[in-house]
Amino acid sequence: MAFPEGFVEEVRRAADIVKVISDHVALKKMGTSWKGLCPFHEEKTPSFNVRQEPAVFHCFGCGEGGDVFKFLMLRERMSFPETLETLARRFGVPIPEGRRFEPGPDRKEREALLALMEAAAQHFEKTLETAPGASAREYLLGRGFQKETLKRIRAGAARDSWDDLLGALRGRHSVAALQKAGLVLARKGGDGHYDRFRNRAVFPILDESGKVVAFGARSLDGSEPKYLNSPESPVYHKGRVLYGLSWARDAIRRERRVVLMEGYLDVARALEEGIEEAVATCGTALTASHGRLLRRFADTVCVNFDQDEAGQRAASKSIEVLLGEGLRVRVVELPEGHDPDSFLKAEGGDAYRRRVEEAPEAFEWLMRQAERAHDLGSPEGKAGFFSALLPALVRVDNAVERSAWLARAVERGGLDEAAAREELRRALGGRGTGATAVAEAARRAPARQALALMPAERWLLALIVLGAEGVDEALAELGEADLDGLRAAPLLRAAKALWRRGEPVTMPALAGETDDEDARRLLSEIAVEGAPKEGLAAQDCVREIRRQPLRARMAEIQKSLQGAQGETLEALLTEKTRLVRQMTSL
Ligand code: UTP
Ligand code: MN
Repeated sequence: MAFPEGFVEEVRRAADIVKVISDHVALKKMGTSWKGLCPFHEEKTPSFNVRQEPAVFHCFGCGEGGDVFKFLMLRERMSFPETLETLARRFGVPIPEGRRFEPGPDRKEREALLALMEAAAQHFEKTLETAPGASAREYLLGRGFQKETLKRIRAGAARDSWDDLLGALRGRHSVAALQKAGLVLARKGGDGHYDRFRNRAVFPILDESGKVVAFGARSLDGSEPKYLNSPESPVYHKGRVLYGLSWARDAIRRERRVVLMEGYLDVARALEEGIEEAVATCGTALTASHGRLLRRFADTVCVNFDQDEAGQRAASKSIEVLLGEGLRVRVVELPEGHDPDSFLKAEGGDAYRRRVEEAPEAFEWLMRQAERAHDLGSPEGKAGFFSALLPALVRVDNAVERSAWLARAVERGGLDEAAAREELRRALGGRGTGATAVAEAARRAPARQALALMPAERWLLALIVLGAEGVDEALAELGEADLDGLRAAPLLRAAKALWRRGEPVTMPALAGETDDEDARRLLSEIAVEGAPKEGLAAQDCVREIRRQPLRARMAEIQKSLQGAQGETLEALLTEKTRLVRQMTSL
């Protein structure tokens, strides 16, 4: 990590977790902890807990929990460095100079490319305002865009020339860099280079923080392709960039919703009509990375692609991707033949906003599509109907929700419920049809820990988290064999590893030491519950943990003893005596 460890600890100590969470949740003090309504799931009675010492939050409803960094990462969709910086600023911890911003060779190259992209964007902007940009200007104004909108999206023009940009930038930037940025191409056969974008309206593609990373350029005279896009480069990965996100991010955060469109000009029109939370993919299918990017800002994605067949197919695919990333999805419906641009232009922002508000849930929309495509009166039609829903269904992570949608599909399609469940179960298991999407869904589905937590495990963990005395001795006594089959095994193993390395066994250290999701939840749950019963020592817990398998075996023996005779009886009794001795000697 680029941050010195001491700095992270300092920020953690300085940050007041109750203050930070209070910005998002109304907290009430109850004894030694604070309670409120969980911001991570819908609830009516508070099961969300915050504690100051150790500084931790945990929701007993949904299981979400962790430290103050985790809270901001989840709630504000920030990266770890972002949370660190935010908290350092807020609580007055000086940020170490130079540690972070030391650019490595990759970073230097990126910075040079970004400077080049910015210079190109400015050149195109200037062209749009001057004589050589006349045809692009006429085209854009002719489509009814206002000057302010064009300025806001930094629209530009590429002149009808083979080397306009090349000539303008080659003094300050190397031709190699221009080529790497995809702005110029090498001439075939001979030497020399020429501009990629010629006689087009140019739309800079910005990353989420507003830096120009690429361009999309529309032809003005019907020449193909209609849109020419920058190739991938060290600063541009089209699967990870969403057009418009830098303008939209505040609105998206505010509404916790984003409208996903297909085209650059759809987004531009939305902006012009006051729909600020709109983004588009840049001439590519929506990827899981796009989904994750959106999840940092939004809970719900309203998909609004063109109302043609290609657009609707793309919508179905996107639904699967977005559900797979844990987002809620709705599908905006427009009259036949429209895209967001044409609808917004014809009907205006208010009418469009209504369409967004009324957008059906993705499953509802999928069911409607599937009903239209299949004859539900026939057995094959029923199968087709259900198959069309299955890829999206397996992406729903929450089993309760998945089951509720299944029930609706069964009702709407007049399906046999048991058979539909069987199909779903098979799909979730990665067998049967549609195997790739499905196998991935199965991989994503968290392996739920079915094991119960013994009281002794809970108490031991609580004592560890509280930094109680005797924890070191207890950990020394705890062996790998004792952990077999314990729910808390990943955490106790992590504690033991820290102890062995001579590092402090604290809650954040434990959380950092394990990537087992169940274990992390368990940790915040236990930390937020606070101290176990008075006078309990860590070593007692360890002994209790070690006694547990012996007890279990003892119960088995007791059972077998009933009706046992002869040699069997003999053997059982011997084992029983040995077990009793073992238990008392612990
Ligand atoms: P559309 O083909 O729907 O564009 O492509 P449109 O809405 O009709 O375009 P306008 O309104 O006439 O300008 C939508 C998006 O798909 C990508 C672009 O990102 C475009 O904004 N696209 C389309 C390409 O990348 N290349 C193409 O040749 C066509
Ligand atoms: Mn379109």
